[in-house]
This record gives sequence, structure tokens and C-alpha cells, in this order.
Amino acid sequence: MTPESLFPTGTDDSTAVPPPGCPAHGIGPGGLRRLYGPDAEDLGAVYEKLRAEHGPVAPALLHEDVPVWVVLGHTENMHMVRTPSQYSRDTRLWARLQDGSVKPDHPLMPHLAWQPLCCYAEGDEHLRLRGAVTGAISTIDHRGIRRHINRATQHLVNQFCEEGGAELVAQFAERLPMMVMCEILGMPEEYNDRLVQAARDLPKGTETAIASNEYIMGVLMRLTARRRAEPQDDFTSHLINHPARLTDEEVGQHLRLVLIVAYESTANLLANVLRVVLTDPRFRAQLSGGQMTVPQAVEQSMWDEPPFSTVLGYFAKRETELGGQRIRQGDGLLMGIAPGNVDPRVRPDTGANMQGNRSHLAFSGGPHECPGQDIGRAIADVGVDALLTRLPDVELDCDEEELQWRESISNRHLVELPVQFAPKPQQDDSMGPQHPLSAQRLGNRSFSVPQAQPPAPEPTAAPSVPGSAPIPTPEPVRRPRLFQRVLRWWRGE
Ligand code: HEM
Repeated sequence: MTPESLFPTGTDDSTAVPPPGCPAHGIGPGGLRRLYGPDAEDLGAVYEKLRAEHGPVAPALLHEDVPVWVVLGHTENMHMVRTPSQYSRDTRLWARLQDGSVKPDHPLMPHLAWQPLCCYAEGDEHLRLRGAVTGAISTIDHRGIRRHINRATQHLVNQFCEEGGAELVAQFAERLPMMVMCEILGMPEEYNDRLVQAARDLPKGTETAIASNEYIMGVLMRLTARRRAEPQDDFTSHLINHPARLTDEEVGQHLRLVLIVAYESTANLLANVLRVVLTDPRFRAQLSGGQMTVPQAVEQSMWDEPPFSTVLGYFAKRETELGGQRIRQGDGLLMGIAPGNVDPRVRPDTGANMQGNRSHLAFSGGPHECPGQDIGRAIADVGVDALLTRLPDVELDCDEEELQWRESISNRHLVELPVQFAPKPQQDDSMGPQHPLSAQRLGNRSFSVPQAQPPAPEPTAAPSVPGSAPIPTPEPVRRPRLFQRVLRWWRGE
């Protein structure tokens, strides 16, 4: 974007923003609003000011005052991501990178440095790389993964259930997605604190990011070599053996992409959904009153607090027009997921319930639309439901106003979510969740119910998830054979 192209429609927008040099916070060269710095602590408010001043596509400034268009309108965002003839994800097209205004040490470089990955590719190369990723995703056994999410939740809840309290961001939301992704990729034995910490570190571009990247790539390249030599029925083996014939380097890089995108997005989503369930009386009442299922709460959260608030970025392949603005070839555009979701033209009342409406922008759209959305949804749906089943009395252990958020251009996430509950016994984490009362009633810390007993109530998690296979409800009669079959089914044997 060139400075003179910022008001290319000829309208005198200079009355809408403070003039250049205005001492007001958050205003940079050309009178443009900054998306960084002290005022950008509440980017939602900045986006609304931009919308009021410029309409659905607004000029703004990234770090180091690099100009970018922010796409605020729902329709305009959808048009951009669905029109690959005009807009590309290839960062090398950005005029600001080409002319050196974006320096190699720019804080957003981790998002901007082009790599041979499907998320930066287009055309045939995108089809080849993305085809391998979606092909491998399509082999994932969704029923088996739901059972694994349940088991992983039991494992995590066991680590704090006897304490009567926990911090759910660090002890749950940031761990469950990594456990599940390690299982999907075919490396459950690699799940540990170091991997969680490295995945958290990597996208931040912090000083330790290089060491974190080396650690993660070491793990993934060793996995690639093992599966190249001896394929199994897992995501990595299917990625390697896809007809697209990815090289080991391409396999390793795409494993990292999938691991990091899945981890970051789903950790944010889990924390957001838990916060809403714990604090929003509307949800809490609806959940306990049975009117709203956890998947519906997840979907509402995708509208109100999308796990990624923007995608940086899309780049104009030629001169075009978007939302009344003239976009020049090489201009950069920020896909505004969060502002697009609250565009008053599609959502005049942001307090309104969005049940059944999945047209939010959380997964983007067009050729790059997130291919892992069913997995992300399943982790949140099953994980939150299983946690609530184990800890039905869980409640926030601080005032809602004390909760703190960390906001960046790409996302806004909770720092901590302290909760309390009456201490509960551990449960066998090879099984699905049991209601704590049933565990007490059976006087057993594990799920190994004597065969003559009727089985404990089945978890509520999976059945409330639309599209999941119904979990057979064991009959309360003494039928050990049936129960054995249900047990084997539940364990995925
Ligand atoms: C709630 C969870 C998730 C959210 C909100 C989410 C959101 C997104 C978004 C916004 C994009 C960028 C689309 C664009 O460039 O326009 C994306 C891309 C991608 N996501 Fe997800 N994602 C989630 C979970 C996952 C999971 C679990 C996986 C893998 C199993 C995954 C794999 C990918 C991949 C490979 C891409 C790049 C696709 C491409 O460029 O063609 N995501 N995701």
C-alpha cells in the first residue's frame, strides 16, 4: 500500500481521523490508526472506530507504522478469501516486503516470512500441498479421536481433581489440544511439558523461539523418518504416503504447521468456551437447563471470541476495489475475523443468540479455509463437556473483572482461569468421564465396575455432539457380555 493510496476514493476522509501529528494516542503517520501500541490493548474498540470512520475496509498501521488495509466487513472478508484471482496468501507479493519497509527483524515476521507451506501457496502448488494435508486429515477416525479426547480429559482432570481447585488455562486448555494432536500425528509418547511450552513459544517470536522451533522440528523430523521406514495408520504416515509425494522436509514442515495451528487455535477456543460457561449466566443457565448444548456454546464463542482474531494477511495480485476502497497491486490486507463477525450489517444485535448459524469467519473460507475445523470443534465439544461432567460444581475462583487477557493482532486470549470445586476422587483415565456421584456410589476410584454390577452412567459428552455416533446406553441389567462389548467399543479396541 502506498501512502497516497490510503484515501484513493477521492473522498476527504481526513475529517474523519485526527490530522497528522495529532498528539492523540494510537494515531501515526498520515493520521492513520495504529493496530499496535498502548491503544491497541483493546483492538475491538480500534476496529469499531475504523469502521465508523472508513466503512468496511479501512487503512491502518501495523508495527513500525507499516500500512495495511483492515477488512472489517463480513461480506468483504468473504469476498477476499474466496477470490484467489485477486487476492493471494503469498507474502512475497507484498510491496512493503519488496521495498524493504518491512525489515527482517519486524515483530510480525513469524507471520510474514514466506515458506513452502500450503498456507502461503496458491494454484497447483496449493492443491498439491493442501491435498496431502486434507487427504491425511480425512483418514482420522473421528469416533476414535472423540474417545481419545475423553480419555485425555480424564487424565488431565485427575491431576487436579483432588485439590479442589485449578488454573484451567495452563492445566487444561493448553494441554488437551497437544495431547490430542500428538495422538493424531502418531507420537503420543512425545507429549510432555517441553512440547507444550515450545508450541506456546514458537508463534510469539520470542528470544527462546529458535530453541523451541529446533526442539519441535527435531521431534517431527524423527517421527517422519520413523514413519517413512515403517508406516502406521496415523496422520503422519498418510501424509508421507499421499500421492502428492511430499519430501521429508515438506512433511516435517507441514506437521509443524498443523501442530502449531491446531494447538494455538484450540487452546484459545477451550479457554474461551470455559470462560463463557463459567461466567455468562445466559450460558450457564441454558447449559444446566438443557436448552443449550456445549457444541452450541462453542459455536457462539466462535462468533464472539474467534480463536484467531485476524489472518495476516492477504495480498492484492492486481488493482481492484473492495468495500469502496481502491486496492493497489501489492497492497497488504488483514483479514478481520473478529471485526467481520460483529459487522452490524450481518449482526445488528451482537447480544442475539447465534444458535444454528455457522456463517462466522472463525475458520476463514475459500481455498485456504481451515481443513481441521472438525477436529478443533471436537476437542472443544468433547473436552469441555467431559470436564463439566467430572466437575459439575466447578466455578470461577475470582471476580470476573479480575480475569486478564493478552491481546495481539492475531489473537486475544485469557491469561489465567482459576476455578474451584469440591475435591473429587481420581478416575481411571482409560475410560470416559463418570459423574463423580456415580464413582462415590460405587466406592471405587477406578471405572473397573464388577461385572455383575450395572455399568456406571455413560458420559454426557459425546452424545451431545451433533454428528457424533450415538454412544450405546448400557442397559441396567446384568449382562456382562454386552458390557464387555461396550467397554471394548469405548476403548476403541
Ligand atoms: C478451533 C480451532 C481452529 C480454528 C479457529 C482454525 C482457524 C484457521 C484459520 C483462520 C486458518 C487460516 C485460513 C486462511 O488462510 O484464510 C486456518 C488454516 C489452517 N488450519 Fe485451522 N483452525 C483450527 C483448528 C485446526 C486444526 C485442529 C487443524 C489440523 C488438524 C488445522 C489445520 C489448518 C491448516 C493446515 C491450515 C492451512 C490451510 C491452507 O492454507 O490451505 N486447524 N485455520
